[in-house]
Amino acid sequence: MKTNPFKFGSVVDGPYFTDRENELEKIASYINGENHLILISPRRFGKTSLIRKIVNESERKYVFLDMQIVLSAEDFASQLLKRVYRIYPVQKLKNYIKSFRVIPVVNINPVTGEPEISFMPNSKKLTPLEDVLNLIENLGTEKKKIIVVLDEFQDIFRIDNGLERFLRSVMQNHRHINYIFMGSSESMIREIFEKKSSPFYRFGTLMTLGKIAPEKFTPFLVKKFELISDKGKELSEGLLAMTDCHPYYTQQLAFTIWENLIRSGYSPEIIKNSAEEIVLSHDNDYERLWNNFNRTDMMVLNGMSVSDISPLSDEFSRLFGTGAASTVFSTLKRLTRKGILIKEGSVYKIDDSFFKMWIIKRRRM
Ligand SMILES: Nc1ncnc2c1ncn2[C@@H]1O[C@H](COP(=O)(O)OP(=O)(O)O)[C@@H](O)[C@H]1O
Ligand SMILES: [Mg+2]
Repeated sequence: MKTNPFKFGSVVDGPYFTDRENELEKIASYINGENHLILISPRRFGKTSLIRKIVNESERKYVFLDMQIVLSAEDFASQLLKRVYRIYPVQKLKNYIKSFRVIPVVNINPVTGEPEISFMPNSKKLTPLEDVLNLIENLGTEKKKIIVVLDEFQDIFRIDNGLERFLRSVMQNHRHINYIFMGSSESMIREIFEKKSSPFYRFGTLMTLGKIAPEKFTPFLVKKFELISDKGKELSEGLLAMTDCHPYYTQQLAFTIWENLIRSGYSPEIIKNSAEEIVLSHDNDYERLWNNFNRTDMMVLNGMSVSDISPLSDEFSRLFGTGAASTVFSTLKRLTRKGILIKEGSVYKIDDSFFKMWIIKRRRM
């Protein structure tokens, strides 16, 4: 039996990866210079997959850290150092680490053989981080810069107060590192890198990553569906219309359609049925999500799920009883910050088309 050629939920590469030619080329050449990059997109658009692919293919040394797993400033230092251990021999690191102001505890995990590193919490909580970042700077050279990727960078606000200012003061002296900052919270990332009063103001070039264009997604899907069906083209077009080319939801729906094709063959309802299967499997999560919204949120989402009229228009307010445009505006902004809505150009959309279907279905029941 053929294995499902679609994948969602984790980093994709190889045959699971499509498009992004322009971004791959642009970013790769960009970080060959003295530059730092900031990459923003809503969750699940493909930032991590794209940057992982670029750093893997660059044949350069890199350190990749997802800030979501970092618990404190000391832990930030530990996690970074642990990743440095993966790319340099212990012997080489020893001499540098001897000169650290706080000496980490290093234990080799007997099962994995990986070093476990910890800086004990103490009064000099930011010192280990400074030492580790400067260590990376010292390991790099003018010709061989190290790439340091900090994913979901907006999490620094959670980790420690003032971390932003401190990081900037250390990083601005670095000449042997290309920093790549990624984030899913556009407003928070813009706040860090675009606000004049922010320490990271203009630290690097800011790029936004969009969805995958239908001209690119369609052939990718068709080629795979044609392995088991002669309806590749209509399946692909129908499913893209449903997911609006969102990379994650497209792969999820394609995955489910593939499973159903294998199980029961083609039928004209297969796209709709597969989508409903996904909606149903998230029923619990969606219900919990829904119950945390306030009344205006619910009204706006309800209107947006059944109509394409701008939620800021008078007509929308009349149809769905959402009240003053200023209230709707702040609701839209807040729901975007939470990742429920995404903004494409000046148009707000519900991010998850399956959640949208759930709302419609629930309201009809
Ligand atoms: N270039 C791509 N080609 C095909 N699918 C992709 C691509 N980028 C992302 N995806 C889909 O989206 C999912 C989420 O990608 P990910 O890189 O984790 O996004 P992000 O880091 O922006 O949250 C992947 O698991 C995959 O299903
Ligand atoms: Mg990611």
